[in-house]
Amino acid sequence: MSTANLHSAHGARPAALRQEDLQISPLATSHTIPSVWYVDPGFHAFDRTAVLERSWQYVGPASRVAEPGTFVSDFVAGNPVVAVRDQQGQLRAFYNVCKHRGGPLVTAPCGAARMLQCQYHGWTYRLDGMLRGVPRFDRTELFDRRDYGLTEIAVDTWDGLLFVCLRPDETPPLSAIMGGIRERIAPTNPVPVSPTPTTTGRGLYDVASFSYAARDTYDVKANWKVYVDNYLEGYHLPLVHPELCDLLDFSSYVTETFDWYSLQHSHIKPASNSSGPASEQAYYYFVFPNLMLNILPGRLQVNRVDQVAADACSVVFDYYYGDIPGTGGEGAGGERTTAERMAADRTFSDRVQAEDVDICEHVQRGLQSNAYDRGRFSYDLEGGVHHFQAMLKRAYKNVMP
Ligand code: FES
Ligand SMILES: [Fe+2]
Repeated sequence: MSTANLHSAHGARPAALRQEDLQISPLATSHTIPSVWYVDPGFHAFDRTAVLERSWQYVGPASRVAEPGTFVSDFVAGNPVVAVRDQQGQLRAFYNVCKHRGGPLVTAPCGAARMLQCQYHGWTYRLDGMLRGVPRFDRTELFDRRDYGLTEIAVDTWDGLLFVCLRPDETPPLSAIMGGIRERIAPTNPVPVSPTPTTTGRGLYDVASFSYAARDTYDVKANWKVYVDNYLEGYHLPLVHPELCDLLDFSSYVTETFDWYSLQHSHIKPASNSSGPASEQAYYYFVFPNLMLNILPGRLQVNRVDQVAADACSVVFDYYYGDIPGTGGEGAGGERTTAERMAADRTFSDRVQAEDVDICEHVQRGLQSNAYDRGRFSYDLEGGVHHFQAMLKRAYKNVMP
């Protein structure tokens, strides 16, 4: 391996990144980013260090680490992580990596433990990360267990969602990133009046009051940015998602952009058998660089797009529901039990996701072909893609000398 490749594997500036491609032009005159950004392994490594490690990564429901001794583990930005509530009640997070020879401390996605014990040779760590138990190490010399505590990372919560950050010194606080989302959807946050509400005082869009239900994960043979681009535009709805298009009032579809996120929103067409309030909204928030919050009345679906390889990603779908009768799910309508509307919602989402996966995999092959380098944007329907690509360029520039 050449020195250049070695650096590139560690996320240095890719050789194929040209200065002129970092220019940010207005939507109406801009080109899309070059195809090499989606196919080159150098960009895969650069995206991880320049973009994903320098952002807040969603891990799961904060309710799973409410009690002292509870933990949640996951992989974010290519790294195994574990978040714990320590015995003093403080929320902490670490790389889920033992300092002996790199073993995992926890392999379950969530649970409870008084100590974190490595699953390989049994070293034990306190929940504040200090190394405590080191079996059969008496004859190892010049070894001070204080030098082998877990590497701590930043952890925070927003509206019931748990996040970690691998490079907090180079990332704005989570509250600053998410600022304005709750306020934006609050004015259309009515309490249902019919049928009899079981959650008096809770709103249809009060995501902090929703309960975690399930996780689905999808493998996609496309670069993570192909998936994000696709999420960010309504341009493909009529051809790729005719069924979804029938449920949304496409004429009301609007994209708004903000500092750290963009919002696509649309009215939901009133279903003929719906008993929910009129003029319900669907909110599709994209939070840079790889988080989506898909908010419908009584339902939050969180997506996290994870890199797998230059030409592959996987997407986590976490479902949260409010205890509100007759709501939840693009495909749901009428009065249903929570279990029924959850099942209908997941089935419908699964169909839409299959359509997106299929088109993204075709696009990846197109980007890898001889025929394509850069395209253009629909001013009306692709503003979100332009916004994402401008933020990406900014993130690249921030780490370049
Ligand atoms: S790797 Fe953890 S105890 Fe050996
Ligand atoms: Fe789509």
